[in-house]
Amino acid sequence: MQFDLSEEHLAVRDSARDFARSELLPGVIERDEHQKFASDQVKKMGELGFMGMMVDPQYGGSGMDTISYVLAMEEISKVDASVAVCMSVNNSLVCWGLEHYGNEAQKQKYLVPLAAGQKIGAFCLSEPEAGSDATSQKTIAIDCGDYYLLNGTKNWITNGNSASTYIVIAQTNAALGHKGISAFIVERGYPGFVVGNKENKLGIRGSDTHALMFTDVKVPKENRLGDEGFGFKFAMATLSGGRIGIAAQALGIASGAYELALQYSKERKTFDKPIAQHQAIQFKLADMATQIDAARLMCLKAAYLKDKHQDYATASAMAKLFSSKIAMEITSEAIQIHGGYGYVKEFHVERLFRDAKITQIYEGTSEIQKIVISRDLLK
Ligand code: CAA
Repeated sequence: MQFDLSEEHLAVRDSARDFARSELLPGVIERDEHQKFASDQVKKMGELGFMGMMVDPQYGGSGMDTISYVLAMEEISKVDASVAVCMSVNNSLVCWGLEHYGNEAQKQKYLVPLAAGQKIGAFCLSEPEAGSDATSQKTIAIDCGDYYLLNGTKNWITNGNSASTYIVIAQTNAALGHKGISAFIVERGYPGFVVGNKENKLGIRGSDTHALMFTDVKVPKENRLGDEGFGFKFAMATLSGGRIGIAAQALGIASGAYELALQYSKERKTFDKPIAQHQAIQFKLADMATQIDAARLMCLKAAYLKDKHQDYATASAMAKLFSSKIAMEITSEAIQIHGGYGYVKEFHVERLFRDAKITQIYEGTSEIQKIVISRDLLK
């Protein structure tokens, strides 16, 4: 076992850090305030290879490993968690799903532009009545010969309005339970596909979250991903990797808040000395740094297992469960260290505090992660 990162890993981390500081930090408060999607910055991230990090270069990707992806996700999330979730969904849900389960024609047509960052993808599983209980899909796709007729509504879809390629999970045979669920590639612009209003959210306000409505949308048969009935397993397998990305996002939110609190504690003086000299603050910093170290190790372990083609479903659920929990605790403590300044927008920690909460909800709530972990323990 070795804990050193390679030169290549360090270069990826530094490049993501530089990008986050130079391109994402300016304007992040305004984007949060006005719920503005960072389209120019996401385009640049695509040019730098951050939108298809793990995809084989023959399909337009950067050909990196999952460890590189975790390192980059942490750095981007430290500064702008809204951009990070766009990056995470495109990388781990859409590109990964297409690369592993798409056929050659689907990869050429859809994966290549997504991995190269020329287009953005969205992953559409959640519905008004199917969030945690993902088998209860109400969206239906009826086989009509050379196309499927798609009807239904998807909710809380990341990249909902900025995407042009959507992976949509739908019921193709309700009698078969999860074995009657299939996955489809749906293009923006198919007649009957409407993007609903943007959600007005607590956090990650710069991310582009929408409901999507499908009314008699004709999806060509060649756009089915995998066999009919494979959609639920496709979603579960894809989400296992996605959870590594969200764990790294939570880690980044936590470490971003910690770094701001550490810096502030050296500058702010009370009772004639920097507050970092008070033991009350030192204890907080020590706890925060310890939790971050543990979360980072868990994220890297899940990434390592995935890179080694070993089972990583439990490790990714554990990493997400733990990292999202400490993100809530650390962002709260970071505000406490900042005192009144922490409660106003200019100091960034209040945004990170609001952004942290979603990491306990999307790509499976904390309770879902505990189900995944405990099933593995008890099997
Ligand atoms: N990989 C491959 N297959 C898997 C799998 C995995 N990781 N996990 C389960 N499966 C398979 C099982 O083997 C089983 O197949 P068989 O019947 O052939 O054995 C099948 O899938 C059904 O599995 P379960 O019986 O475990 O299914 P369940 O109905 O009990 O549900 C659950 C399990 C864990 C609760 C699941 O419903 C779940 O993960 N729910 C949460 C959904 C979720 O994360 N939604 C997030 C939306 S996407 C999002 O948030 C993106 C974004 O925009 C940021």
